[in-house]
Amino acid sequence: MILFEKVADLQQYLSEYYTSDATIGFVPTMGALHEGHLSLVQQAVERNDISVCSIFVNPTQFDDKADLERYPRTLAEDMDLLRSVGNRLIFSPTVEEMYPPGLDTASGVDFGDMATHMEGAHRSGHFEGVAQVVKRLVDIVQPDHMYMGQKDYQQQALMRHMMRELDYKTEVVTCPIIREADGLAMSSRNRHLTPEERENAGQINKVLARLKENAKTLSLTEVHAQALRELENIPGATPDYLEIVDALTLKRLNNFEDAESVVACTTVRIGKVRLLDNMILR
Ligand code: PAF
Repeated sequence: MILFEKVADLQQYLSEYYTSDATIGFVPTMGALHEGHLSLVQQAVERNDISVCSIFVNPTQFDDKADLERYPRTLAEDMDLLRSVGNRLIFSPTVEEMYPPGLDTASGVDFGDMATHMEGAHRSGHFEGVAQVVKRLVDIVQPDHMYMGQKDYQQQALMRHMMRELDYKTEVVTCPIIREADGLAMSSRNRHLTPEERENAGQINKVLARLKENAKTLSLTEVHAQALRELENIPGATPDYLEIVDALTLKRLNNFEDAESVVACTTVRIGKVRLLDNMILR
């Protein structure tokens, strides 16, 4: 396994892949890896000739400085995990390497209404930061396939939109949410939950599962109101939002019939932790 810190070194290593038919798989991460990340890396390894995993805690996507400082940094453990799933190349640059003075790294992509609700309404500038770092990483790695998790539903939809807008060859592959035994979506932030908060957090996914079941017989307005009440009733929990949207355009829906595919997305605060989850309804 090789750890690259410099853009030029990684690109030199990859140059023979750029000029051949070989495919490059890429998994962008901020480290603190768990099974959810490893499932993405496994796909990248299995389905491409070479795979790159980036580990970079991107300062431009944090609106809260304390959150950035608290973000776990566990490079040695991450490298062991990546080795265990056969990932050969790691890219872990410094902030200066990613954003050298004088280089315009803004994505320049207009996400319109796709980015202003859900996470966009609660984390000012977050998606501009994600778009900036993902574009920069894709420009560096030049992957054929980029693997992202369904857990960050809005993020993967925006990155899919960005690749189309920029006319990049990179295909975004969205991989299913990996869950703990009680249904809690795996996240690097789960480690900040107290044991009691952790127990209550397991209920979020159960609420979404009931919402999906109820959607077979009730209207969108009814299932939304009921699920929101249930999220509010989880001890210690405050939902930031629960939205039922078109799975492709992320437009809010009034009726299930208004879109071909529908997803329910929520973020619930428990203690100091924001927990994201979603469920494809059809
Ligand atoms: O989902 C994440 O971990 C980050 O938003 C990403 C895509 C690695 C960009 O920093």
